[in-house]
Amino acid sequence: MGESMKGLKRTHSCGRLDRSGLGQQVTLMGWVHRRRDHGGVIFIDLRDREGLTQVVFKPERPELMEKARDLKQEYVVAVTGTVEARPDDMINKDLKTGEIEVWVDELRILNESKTPPFVIEEEAQANEDLRFKYRYLDLRNSVLRDNVILRHHAMAATREYLNSQGLLEIETPILVKRTPEGARDFLVPSRLSPGKFYALPQSPQLYKQILMISGFDKYYQLPKCLRDEDLRADRQPEHTQIDIEMSFVDEEDVLCLVEGLMQHIFKKVKGVEVDIPFQRMTYAESFARYGTDKPDLRFGLEIEDVSDVVAGSDSDMLKDAVASGGAFAIGSSQAASLSRKNIEALEEVAKKAGAAGLAWGKVSGEGKAGGILRFFGDEAIADFKRLFEVEGDGLFLIVAGERVKSQAALGAVRLKVAELAELVPEDSHRFVWITEFPLFEWDDDHERWIPAHHMFSMPFEEDIAMLETEPGKVRARMYDLAYNGLELGSGSIRNHIREMQERVMKAAGFDKKEATRRFGFLLEAFEYGAPPHGGIALGFDRIVMKLAGRDSIRDVIAFPKTTSGASLMDECPSEIDDDDLKELHIRLDTPKKNA
Ligand code: AMO
Repeated sequence: MGESMKGLKRTHSCGRLDRSGLGQQVTLMGWVHRRRDHGGVIFIDLRDREGLTQVVFKPERPELMEKARDLKQEYVVAVTGTVEARPDDMINKDLKTGEIEVWVDELRILNESKTPPFVIEEEAQANEDLRFKYRYLDLRNSVLRDNVILRHHAMAATREYLNSQGLLEIETPILVKRTPEGARDFLVPSRLSPGKFYALPQSPQLYKQILMISGFDKYYQLPKCLRDEDLRADRQPEHTQIDIEMSFVDEEDVLCLVEGLMQHIFKKVKGVEVDIPFQRMTYAESFARYGTDKPDLRFGLEIEDVSDVVAGSDSDMLKDAVASGGAFAIGSSQAASLSRKNIEALEEVAKKAGAAGLAWGKVSGEGKAGGILRFFGDEAIADFKRLFEVEGDGLFLIVAGERVKSQAALGAVRLKVAELAELVPEDSHRFVWITEFPLFEWDDDHERWIPAHHMFSMPFEEDIAMLETEPGKVRARMYDLAYNGLELGSGSIRNHIREMQERVMKAAGFDKKEATRRFGFLLEAFEYGAPPHGGIALGFDRIVMKLAGRDSIRDVIAFPKTTSGASLMDECPSEIDDDDLKELHIRLDTPKKNA
């Protein structure tokens, strides 16, 4: 059993002491990170959330040495002692506490620990499932711990900025009415209303609009949003947003607020100065130049339409493909050194992104042309070099076929080329606003138009007449924020007039009856003096992931789910007892497991 803390009070954290504390009597509490026995002296690295302090047991106190010999990894201890300077040859410049150590004159073992299933180190090497099962131990490693602390600072900076701009933090419910928003809902059965279900909110979208109708004017919240979708490195079933809505605003007001917010967060959390205003680009331009609506602008490699050049070549394969849409290319001198194997990898990327193939051509400084360019005349080769500003050696990659598919495939190839040719500069922060999104996209599976984002965005006034005739051409007053190639946020100016909202819903396949059944409360609220309003939601986990320099949002969430949506620590989702199901009037019809 552990000893009591009684009579002891912690004076410092394990990351604080330096030479200014020399000679002080201190009390530290924390975990035994490492123990080293050295020529009759025992050293312990004592750890808490702020860092490590070296504590020393000397032979002059044999009873303490005896006790210290029992200390094992992850034991919880309290030590009292004096701050002393480390001998010169033991100074550790990488540690804030690296110039001092504490000579112990009292040790209490507050709790013991079983041997952990893996070593607590910066980047644990252990198997992922084991790390998830013992997440509380993994959270003791300095990388995850610092990410969680950074997340706290990012959250504090967010609140600080939005409060300073006059926004009110207002909570909205977690049990809500099921309203389609793009992903699948998580459902919660109601005990009090048998056969009925709540949904967990995919976002507070409707509630924040209603708050504008209530007159709260400027709102924010850091809500948990729940979506039953397939998981990826930047997607979790529960994510946190910075959710914002404001009345009497247009696009510029929302964009400016978010620019100030991002600037504040980056400065406060990372000390990085972000330039504002951010670049702006329409969806159409972004797609044509980068093959995506979230372009990574840290490097060039822009896509060019090379249909005319290709049309004059002797490559029948390319010419045929051009006839079905066009030919698009990227080219670069820096990529000229990519190997055959690299190019094969690029071809894989193109195919995976939907292209039939990827043609490549090379030019050398001596004027030799290889690959597909052997089918091109001198003039066409000169066109290629001019278009992509290639002077010596150069590599060109071409995708031909249907326009959108080809551009998207080349967009994916562009990212891979940048990675392989190491074209991405470090410490570059490129934010960009993408505007003028299409309101609808065509859903091949159901053969109908569906909202590209959600159906609450207001159409461009000059496009409204096409709502019923050519929905695919209607642009929405929507904006997305991308950062270094990642979608960080999305928002729009909303409909606030019932008739307009109903027209949009109708174009999305919801007739008046269906629209009323699903969204009746919002449509009715529009009739009681709804102000013009708009807003945005930013993916908070993604922002923190970028601030922490990680590739997965799981590294910045204290208790994330695995890719199969499970929490291995508390073993959820889990089965429910028959009695509980009965109370909810639910009978299971689960697929039988293969014996
Ligand atoms: P949207 O669905 O685009 O918009 O979400 C806003 C931002 O939230 C982040 N995000 C996610 N992050 C982690 N895991 C997920 N599963 C996940 N899904 C989304 C992204 C995304 O850009 N109500 C609207 C916003 C509005 O119109 O105001 C909404 O939720 O960074």
